[in-house]
Amino acid sequence: MKILVLGGDGYLGWPTSLFLSVKGYEIYIIDDFSKRKIELEEGVIPLESLLPLQERIKVWEKSTGRAIGIHVGSLTNHRFIYAALEEIQPDVIVHFAEQPSAPYSMKGRSQAVYTQSNNVIGTLNLLFAMRSYCPNAHLVKLGTLGEYGTPNIDIEEGYIKIQHKGREDLLPFPKQPFSFYHLSKVHDSNNIMFACRVWGLRATDLNQGVVYGIDTAETRMDPDLKTSFHYDSIFGTALNRFVAQLVCGVPLTVYGSGRQERGIINLIDTMQCIQLAIENPASRGECRIFNQFTESHSILGLAKKVLSVGKNMGINGTVEHIRNPRVEQEDHYYNPVHTKLVELGLEPHFLSEKIIEGMINRVTNSREAINTETIRPKIAWTMEKNRLTIAR
Ligand SMILES: NC(=O)c1ccc[n+]([C@@H]2O[C@H](COP(=O)([O-])OP(=O)(O)OC[C@H]3O[C@@H](n4cnc5c(N)ncnc54)[C@H](O)[C@@H]3O)[C@@H](O)[C@H]2O)c1
Repeated sequence: MKILVLGGDGYLGWPTSLFLSVKGYEIYIIDDFSKRKIELEEGVIPLESLLPLQERIKVWEKSTGRAIGIHVGSLTNHRFIYAALEEIQPDVIVHFAEQPSAPYSMKGRSQAVYTQSNNVIGTLNLLFAMRSYCPNAHLVKLGTLGEYGTPNIDIEEGYIKIQHKGREDLLPFPKQPFSFYHLSKVHDSNNIMFACRVWGLRATDLNQGVVYGIDTAETRMDPDLKTSFHYDSIFGTALNRFVAQLVCGVPLTVYGSGRQERGIINLIDTMQCIQLAIENPASRGECRIFNQFTESHSILGLAKKVLSVGKNMGINGTVEHIRNPRVEQEDHYYNPVHTKLVELGLEPHFLSEKIIEGMINRVTNSREAINTETIRPKIAWTMEKNRLTIAR
């Protein structure tokens, strides 16, 4: 079976490509390296330096004897994606290739426009390319739990049964996204659902929680196979930032009260979910939606876990509550349903002390490379010229 991984140079796309390659699938990667360009623009780099994708693929081929094909280009170039699908004829397309940072999308007009045009037009080009060149392929698309926001009711997996004036229907779950980035995912979801309904494409939209984790069985096979680990305020997620701050002896910066609850998932489980989606495909004309996370925690709860594991390792840290740069509810109900992937066989790896300890040890090895200046948020959701005076 041929699997095309879009965004295969990224944090999730690279380890997923290796994971699926080892399972015996024929893997092709597309990437335009735009993530690396944004890193340069914003002055942030992953904690550990990475080889260029072409070199990492050579290391993989040497280690395993398994080839990975590569096409360099952007989904926003429709001629490029048309030609790639015509040539590869994939059975499955796993789509990671989007601008993934909410803060970046909130920096200003050009970043918001870039995020939405890159993500929405890229996906729209992909849908048209699929219709023309591989209408039977299964699209596995990475969306986000942040599409839903934090409504005061349980969040269903994509669709909700609504009774209204004596009639009933199963309708798309209402969305209240957190940022222009999250909005791009909502627009994608609508376009994908429409393409399935009207053209008979098949898709699984994975509304994923925040991913944590540094490595996988495959990336551990050679130091040159590692994936990116970001701890900065643009690309680094809360747990990564807290671990980096603990290791550097600076306070763990919690946005606001930290009572905001979010769904999280281990990198290993992300790959497991994608494999389950691939091996149990959607039917023609079906747009399936799974909520892809395994547990939820408050942001303050995550910081306290990091502090507690650090203390057991002899590393003491503190929490600093800073003004929340985001506009979001801090006290809210949060109960997203997440049973569909478990029904397909997902065996979750929950956030444990051992996992946090492993992250702390790994980050400690590169402690000298950490620039703590890049961890504090500089982008605000409100109209304060996008600059924040960080106050308690
Ligand atoms: N990492 C998370 O915690 C998380 C959580 C929920 C959803 N997601 C989604 O999963 C996907 C992957 O996330 P990630 O953290 O690996 O991000 P990433 O930025 O590390 O990877 C995305 C890759 O796609 C490439 N890309 C972007 N736009 C492209 C385009 N137009 N054409 C070709 N390549 C393009 C980038 O260069 C990058 O290598 C994203 O869609 C993201 O929104 C991630």
